[in-house]
Amino acid sequence: MKASDTKATLSFSNGGQNVELPIYKGTLGPDVIDIRKLYAQTGMFTYDPGFMSTASCQSTITYIDGDKGELLYRGYPIEQLATNCDFLETCYLLLNGELPNASEKEKFSNLVTKHTMVNEQMQFFLRGFRRDAHPMAIMTGLVGALSAFYHDSTDINNPEHREIAAIRLIAKMPTLVAMAYKYTIGQPYMYPKNELSYAGNFLHMMFGVPCEDYKVSPVLERALDRIFILHADHEQNASTSTVRLCGSSGTNPFAAIAAGVACLWGPAHGGANEAALNMLYDIQKEGGVEKIGEFIKKVKDKNSNVKLMGFGHRVYKNYDPRAKLMQETCNEVLTELGLEKDPLFALAKQLEKIALEDEYFVSRKLYPNVDFYSGIVQRAIGIPVNLFTGIFALARTVGWIAQLNEMIGDPEYKIGRPRQLFTGSVARDVKPLAQR
Ligand code: SDX
Repeated sequence: MKASDTKATLSFSNGGQNVELPIYKGTLGPDVIDIRKLYAQTGMFTYDPGFMSTASCQSTITYIDGDKGELLYRGYPIEQLATNCDFLETCYLLLNGELPNASEKEKFSNLVTKHTMVNEQMQFFLRGFRRDAHPMAIMTGLVGALSAFYHDSTDINNPEHREIAAIRLIAKMPTLVAMAYKYTIGQPYMYPKNELSYAGNFLHMMFGVPCEDYKVSPVLERALDRIFILHADHEQNASTSTVRLCGSSGTNPFAAIAAGVACLWGPAHGGANEAALNMLYDIQKEGGVEKIGEFIKKVKDKNSNVKLMGFGHRVYKNYDPRAKLMQETCNEVLTELGLEKDPLFALAKQLEKIALEDEYFVSRKLYPNVDFYSGIVQRAIGIPVNLFTGIFALARTVGWIAQLNEMIGDPEYKIGRPRQLFTGSVARDVKPLAQR
């Protein structure tokens, strides 16, 4: 970052001393006012719950322009990556800052492939869960449990440990998600198959059975690979900020990523794809397209607490570019599978059309986000609704790791420790029980 010629001056109406604050510029996006010395100079904190106006770090990984609806991974537009690259190339890019050449890609893919198995003991963790446990409950446990097995890659301050932990996490997430799924349906786990692609191997571990060979559909393989690319990273979102804050204590990478899994589960964040599909199912059950008006009315009624899931975004005040690409993928997959008449897809497109013409959504700049269509395409692939967020976590793991490693690799980083505006009780004495 570089210092701007412009300074910010804080003045106080009570005649207090003015404070001059430096402004820094990045390569893209808003400048920042450096408030690091504010408390020392004024004895006051800034106040920004939800971090609406706060940059928590400087980063070179992902840039989002919410007004333009633009998303860049290391400078490459998401539309180009989703069309010209595969997920492992995107992983390499997010981790290393450049796209791999052919030999770098082959070496990286082989490394990931060789780490897809998990320790045989891992299967015994699953036995402790009820069969109807939510897959994200299982994943939150399994990912944290990885730190019990890989003591040679838990020192987050050791670059070699960070590198092997990154490979292990990227390689093992599909295996763990597939194991969480197989456990809930009472089928045996499928071991990874090294000759398959990253997405093909995941399909095989999810839908294959020991009794017969599983044939990977190239259409589903490509669709899943694109879904992984679209979910790989997204600047300082809630789960990424969770991973950064958790990792800033120096905890091991597996524990920090497990914290990200837990945060992503929430319906306001990665859990929205599951909630969006359940919302479409509910409208369908009520009567489908002709019930959209009634549903939109409920959403606009503040007392209903009903939101249009898969719509709206803290940063995008224009169309989420991932939603457009997801809708395209939806079209391709449904057409290939002969499901182009899928009533749920038709319902989603009609719901989007009506919402985008409605003043409530237009005035609040609410557009479809990545979660609006992702459930429909995942359902067409055969993925159960309650596993959608697990797929999101699988794909976002590389983003979380890249952001964590960027923070740890920054010599200036410190443990994250926000302060507060205290509005509770002033000091008072404890009364004996008899007097309370
Ligand atoms: C993801 O941050 C990221 O980058 C996240 C993510 C990533 O890749 O990491 O992109 C992934 O989490 C996408 C978002 C998935 N969540 C959903 O689809 C859930 C539904 N969306 C909302 O919960 C909401 O839009 C948020 C949480 C996504 C954003 O919330 P904000 O930025 O805090 O906005 P807000 O709640 O202040 O909304 C502003 C107004 C409010 O109305 P008013 O108080 O002004 O009258 O818009 C309304 C909100 O009530 N609003 C919605 C709405 N989203 C916002 N009203 C109805 N339906 C919605 N979906």
